[in-house]
Amino acid sequence: MCGIVGYIGSKNATPVLIKALKKLEYRGYDSAGIAVYTADEIIVRKVKGALKNLGEKITGELVKASKTDPEYEKQEMAIYEKTADFIKGNVGIGHTRWATHGEPSDTNSHPHTNMDGSISIVHNGIIENYAELKAKLQAEGVVFQSQTDTEVVVHLIDKAYREEKDIFKAVLKVIHLLEGSYALGVLCKDYPDRIICCRKESPLVVGIGSGENFIASDVPALLEHTRDVYYLGEKELAVLYSDHVDLFNFEGEKIIKQPSHVEWDMAAAEKGGYPHFMIKEIHEQPKGLTDTMRPRIVKDSSGKPVDVFFEENKMDDAWRNAKRVVITACGTAYHAGVVAKYAFEKIARMKVDIDVASEFRYRDPILDKDDIFIVVSQSGETADTLSALRLAKQNGLKVVAITNCVGSTVSREADDVIYTLAGPEIAVASTKAYTTQVLCMYMLAIKAGKLRGTLTDSEASKLLAELEAMPGKVQQILDGKDIIQKFASRQFNKDKIFYIGRQFDSATSLESALKLKEVSYMHSEAFAAGELKHGPIALIDPQTLVVAISSEPHLYEKIGSNMVEVKARGATVLVITQDEKSFEGKADEVFKIPECSSTLSSLLTVIPTQLFAYYCAVLRGIDPDKPRNLAKSVTVE
Ligand code: AGP
Ligand code: GLU
Repeated sequence: MCGIVGYIGSKNATPVLIKALKKLEYRGYDSAGIAVYTADEIIVRKVKGALKNLGEKITGELVKASKTDPEYEKQEMAIYEKTADFIKGNVGIGHTRWATHGEPSDTNSHPHTNMDGSISIVHNGIIENYAELKAKLQAEGVVFQSQTDTEVVVHLIDKAYREEKDIFKAVLKVIHLLEGSYALGVLCKDYPDRIICCRKESPLVVGIGSGENFIASDVPALLEHTRDVYYLGEKELAVLYSDHVDLFNFEGEKIIKQPSHVEWDMAAAEKGGYPHFMIKEIHEQPKGLTDTMRPRIVKDSSGKPVDVFFEENKMDDAWRNAKRVVITACGTAYHAGVVAKYAFEKIARMKVDIDVASEFRYRDPILDKDDIFIVVSQSGETADTLSALRLAKQNGLKVVAITNCVGSTVSREADDVIYTLAGPEIAVASTKAYTTQVLCMYMLAIKAGKLRGTLTDSEASKLLAELEAMPGKVQQILDGKDIIQKFASRQFNKDKIFYIGRQFDSATSLESALKLKEVSYMHSEAFAAGELKHGPIALIDPQTLVVAISSEPHLYEKIGSNMVEVKARGATVLVITQDEKSFEGKADEVFKIPECSSTLSSLLTVIPTQLFAYYCAVLRGIDPDKPRNLAKSVTVE
C-alpha cells in the first residue's frame, strides 16, 4: 500500500529517511513526506507527487536532468544529501502514500500531526471506523486538516496523551480503539529519544543497527544499513531508542523476539522474497479482497451481514430507478464487466449492456438518462475508458467508476467512485485488481438488488456471508499452487490453448485466455463452450490444451459433453470445478476449487488460471512482470 520509514541514531535523519523512502518507491505511491525532531520541535515536510518533489521542496533545488538522463539519479541523490543542511535532527519518520481516503494532495500526505504539532504519525493501512471516531473528535472541538482516515489517529493519541501523560500508554490506549489495518510510526516532541511503532495487518520491520535503529514497511529500505531485523508480529509494538529496541504486545507486556538476518538481495527484497511481482500480487489477493470488502459489509447486531455500504455512494435513488446498467472498460477490466453482466442479471435482475470502451466510444450508442453507466479501470487513466466515460456524461448519464487509484482521472470525472483496495499493482498483468473489481461488482449487484427489492434480505445475507468466506477460499487455492505448477510444466509448450465455460465461467474464460496470452505469449482463446461446435472445434488436435471452467452444477453435463468432444479429437483437457466426481473419465486433469455457488465462483475459478499463466511464462523464460509490447496503463488510443 505505501512505505513507512523511521530512523533514530547519530546520523542526520532527513537524508536517511528520504533515501530509505527511495528504496520503497517500487511499491507505488502518490505523495511523500517526513517529520524530523529538531532542536525542540517536530518539522514536517510533505508533498503530493514524486519523492523528488520532497527533496526539491526542502532544498529549493530542482533536479535539472530529465528522467531518462543518466545524470538524473545522481542529481536526485545529491539533493537528498543536501536536505541535511536544511533539516537537522537525529530522529524522524517518513512516508510514501498510496491514497485510500482523500485524494492525493499536500494536505492529505503523511505525516499527520496533532493541532499543536507536538505529535506526528505516519500510517499504512485503512482505519475502517475512522468516520465515527472523526465525528466524536470534531464534536470535542478537534479541527481536522485532511480528508484522510489516518489523521483521526494522531488526534486520538493527542487526547490519550493528555489523559495518560505518557506517550507509550497513549498509543497503547488508542490502538484498542481502531478497527482495520495499520502500521504506525509515532514521534512525540516530549520524547525525542524514541520512536514508537506498531502493526496490525499491515507489515512493519524494525532494523537493528549499531548505535542506531530503523523502522520500515519493507526490507529494501533497510538493507543499506543493516540486515538484522525484527519482523514485528501481528498486534505488536516496538519502542526504538538509538541504542536498543523494546518490544511489546498489545497488552503492553514486554516480549522477546530473536532477530532475523536478511539474506535477500535488493531485487528479491522488493518482491518480498517472491521471484516476480505478478506471483506476489497473485498471493496478495486474499488481503486485497478482505480490504476491499470488510469496510463495506454492514452487519446486524448479531453479526450477520445484511447490506452493503459504499461510503462514497451517492446514487441510491439512481440505482432504484435505473432501467439498465451499461458497463464499459478495456482488457482485464472489461472481463470484470462481463462477470458483472451475469451478476447484475442474476442477483439484481437488471438489464445489462456491455462493450469494450474502444468500441463503445465510436458507436452511436442508444443511451437513456436513467441508465447507470459503470466504467472499470485499475489505473483510472485508460484513454478509451475515459472517452467512453465522457460520452456517457455528455448524454446525461450517472457514471460510477470502479478504480484502484484514488484521485485518478476517472475517479474525479465520475459521479460516484468505488475504490478497489488492492494496493499498488506493479506487474503489467492485472490479477489482484481484477478480483477486487469483480468483488466490487458483486457487492454493487447485491446493493442494487436490495434497493430495487429484487433480492430478499435472506438472499442478500447468504451471498454476503459467502463473499466474506472468499478470501480464505482463495488462500486454499494458493496453498495448492504446486498442482498448477506441475500441470504447467507439462503444458507450457502447447501451441493452442482454449478456455471454455458457460455463464459466469465463460467470463472467467475470457480473462484466463488474456492472462495466458499476455505473459506467456502462448496463443490462447476463450469460447462460450456452446460455441465450440459452431466452428472453433475445427482447430482441435493433439497439440491443443482445453481448459474447461465449470462451476455451474446444472451445466456440468453440458460441459462434460464438450470435454468428451474435444478429447475425442486428441485435445488434453483440464477441468476447474468444485465437483471433480462429475467429470471422472472426461478430463486428463482436474483442479478442484473449494465449494462455492456458481454465482460467486468467478472469484475462485480465475485463481488457478492466473497461476497457470504465470508458471507458463516462467517456464518459457519470459519475465511475467514486463511482457513485450504491453504497458501498465494505456493512456493513448
Ligand atoms: C491487464 O492484464 C492488461 N494489462 C490490460 O488488459 C488492462 O486490463 C487494460 O489495459 C485496462 O487497464 P485499466 O484497468 O488500467 O483501465
Ligand atoms: N489510509 C491512509 C490514507 O489514505 C494510508 C494509505 C496508505 O497506506 O498509504 O492516507
